[in-house]
Amino acid sequence: MPYQEKKFNLPELNGISKESVDAHLGLYAGYVKNFNAISGMLAEYAKDSEKNAHALAELIRRRSFEFGGMRLHELYFAQFEGSSTALTASGTLAKQIEAEYHKLEYFLAMFRAIALMRGPGWAILYWDPQAKQLLTGFSGEQHQGHFATLPIILALDVWEHAYLLDYGAAGKDKYIDAFFKNLNWPVLEQRFAGSTA
Ligand SMILES: [Fe+2]
Repeated sequence: MPYQEKKFNLPELNGISKESVDAHLGLYAGYVKNFNAISGMLAEYAKDSEKNAHALAELIRRRSFEFGGMRLHELYFAQFEGSSTALTASGTLAKQIEAEYHKLEYFLAMFRAIALMRGPGWAILYWDPQAKQLLTGFSGEQHQGHFATLPIILALDVWEHAYLLDYGAAGKDKYIDAFFKNLNWPVLEQRFAGSTA
């Protein structure tokens, strides 16, 4: 069954232009389209898997790239829906961050350092329900380096396409500031509540 492109009810963002958001939504649509396209090709190529071995292998590898691009962008844009709202100080996510990082600002400093890593990818905050702890990580491209099976609480796109229009190739740090200015933390709190239930 083909995957459907999601629509987001986005407010006007502070420091991330509508032009940039519209271009970025277009890229997101491309991930959905290409995931569906590759999925459609697999059965055909598998009919002669010996002759198509190299093509099939590449399609299988790239399909998870497209899937990661699809799902991560859905997490990303949903974080701006509603309006910019601070983390609820008395909430369970704030308490977990405090327990592990002592202060929100220490967590943010760590997360920012990850987001500033070189190369295209995503800074991601995961929740490990087995160990009952948060894990921060960096996924290269869209699909590599994930903590397998862990739910994602926060996803920050740090591919150049996320900030090039507004800040230029050297403007990743300014874009990260803008991202956090627009973040609707209760969306993350809901994800966390869903993952800990
Ligand atoms: Fe992106």
